[in-house]
Amino acid sequence: MAGSDDLVERARERFAQARDAAALENAKAGFLGRQGAVTAMLRGLAALDPARKRTEGARINALKREVEALLEQRRAELAQVELDHRLAAETLDVTLPGRGRGRGGIHPVIQAWQRVEAIFRSIGFDVADGPEIENDWTNFTALNNPENHPARSMQDTFYVDLNDAQGLPLVLRTHTSPMQVRYARMNTPPIKVIAPGRTYRVDNDATHSPMFHQVEGLWIAEDISFADLKGVYTDFLRAFFETDALSVRFRSSFFPFTEPSAEIDMMFTSGPNRGRWLEISGSGQVHPVVVRNFGLDPEQYVGFAFGSGLERLAMLRYGVDDLRPFFEGDLRFLSQFNR
Ligand code: DAH
Repeated sequence: MAGSDDLVERARERFAQARDAAALENAKAGFLGRQGAVTAMLRGLAALDPARKRTEGARINALKREVEALLEQRRAELAQVELDHRLAAETLDVTLPGRGRGRGGIHPVIQAWQRVEAIFRSIGFDVADGPEIENDWTNFTALNNPENHPARSMQDTFYVDLNDAQGLPLVLRTHTSPMQVRYARMNTPPIKVIAPGRTYRVDNDATHSPMFHQVEGLWIAEDISFADLKGVYTDFLRAFFETDALSVRFRSSFFPFTEPSAEIDMMFTSGPNRGRWLEISGSGQVHPVVVRNFGLDPEQYVGFAFGSGLERLAMLRYGVDDLRPFFEGDLRFLSQFNR
């Protein structure tokens, strides 16, 4: 058949003209595809007598192998060209100075937590930690907050659909107060402890978050009075805010686990926030029923407890008036506390 050697030459040319893999595959179709020249020649064999069929068949197959070899060779060339391009485009200048690592910082609420711990440690308080998934006896009942008592509805509780090993219903602790019970049952008086940590309530707006932080305080001995509470808490606030220019007042209140109970209010007497009473903590003299649940005799042991919101302390210290940015993870906000 005429022009067969031309065909190899044409294939070489067409393949060489292909500038990328897709163009090459198009060029291939013109020779080896269903409508391709080589395929047409093979089809033409049918019309030949057996002897010519054999010789022509062998010749066309040799041709076909040549074209295939050319194709492979061009494929490899194009792959190399593409790789060279990529390597050139992605060059890495190893002499450039590094970008540095972003340094992490401590979250403002955790900074407040750490300050609180340091201050209370310095006046002899132990620091305790306990479970965030708490049984309802420790979270409520032991704190003189019996089942079906309306005071339970002061706290919108996340109930967990499980019981603990003793069969007690579990809740996400609504406050750090259950740590009073846990700690007091594991230690002997004098008991002097704070328990900071995460707490949970079904609540979400500008001043409430479903997860928030509290710090519990408890001081139980034979002669601890409200006067001690006032002294300790006032000293704490002065250390925390690094100023003596603040006043503290106790406002009568109700908590099931204290009697009498009080809200602690504070007021800055100088600075931008001066002159406004700010509610800062719940507190009170630990209720005799609770002291008994500590495993102690309320005739012998007496003392105070308080529970304060760490976000509230952080907001006042840093002048933040919305709770939400603390939990949104926006670095423009958070990095301001780590300069
Ligand atoms: N647990 C209370 C709450 O979350 C706060 C509180 C009030 C804690 C009085 C106390 C206390 O220890 O004596 O609202």
